[in-house]
Amino acid sequence: MVAHRVTSAALAPFAREADDRDAAALAHLFEQLGHPCSEEQVRARLGFGPPDRRVLVAELDDAVVGLAVLELIHPLHRGAPEAVLTALVTDANTRHRGVARALLAEVSRRARQAGAATLYLRCHRRRDDAHAFYRAQGFDETHLTFNREL
Ligand SMILES: CC(C)(COP(=O)(O)OP(=O)(O)OC[C@H]1O[C@@H](n2cnc3c(N)ncnc32)[C@H](O)[C@@H]1OP(=O)(O)O)[C@@H](O)C(=O)NCCC(=O)NCCS
Repeated sequence: MVAHRVTSAALAPFAREADDRDAAALAHLFEQLGHPCSEEQVRARLGFGPPDRRVLVAELDDAVVGLAVLELIHPLHRGAPEAVLTALVTDANTRHRGVARALLAEVSRRARQAGAATLYLRCHRRRDDAHAFYRAQGFDETHLTFNREL
């Protein structure tokens, strides 16, 4: 596994690919995202993920404090893959320290490397903090998302 230092500053967030040893930290972060799951469930999902999924964690001061999930999709009507950020959350105790920004930088780098020209995400209307974060990071609101329970 090759880790990528997002910045060279001391104690700056550091993004890398997640592995089994991160299961407990990931479960804690998913709970904060509002999607609780057990450590065992996380481990199983990491083991059987599709090949176009990348699970990244951010470390700060030697602790895992954030996660981002990048998935690539291949719409038939487009010639290039599209990058989708399907999860992003940082630990409530380390917000506003650049952790999400560092994760997003690494997600964008990997998405570009995979040939994607666009990165998008779905975000619930009630997540005001996240909206402010995405706007500050240069995302535009361009589409509506429609949901129907199946
Ligand atoms: C949204 C979230 C990921 C941001 O994480 P974070 O680690 O605090 O973000 P960063 O510190 O990297 O923020 C970078 C910049 O984004 C902007 N930003 C981040 N949170 C913001 C907020 N609540 N309001 C306004 N701007 C914000 C700021 O410009 C900030 O830079 P600054 O702190 O130097 O001013 C975090 O609040 C979170 O996990 N929320 C709960 C889960 C969630 O809603 N996830 C998104 C699901 S779609």
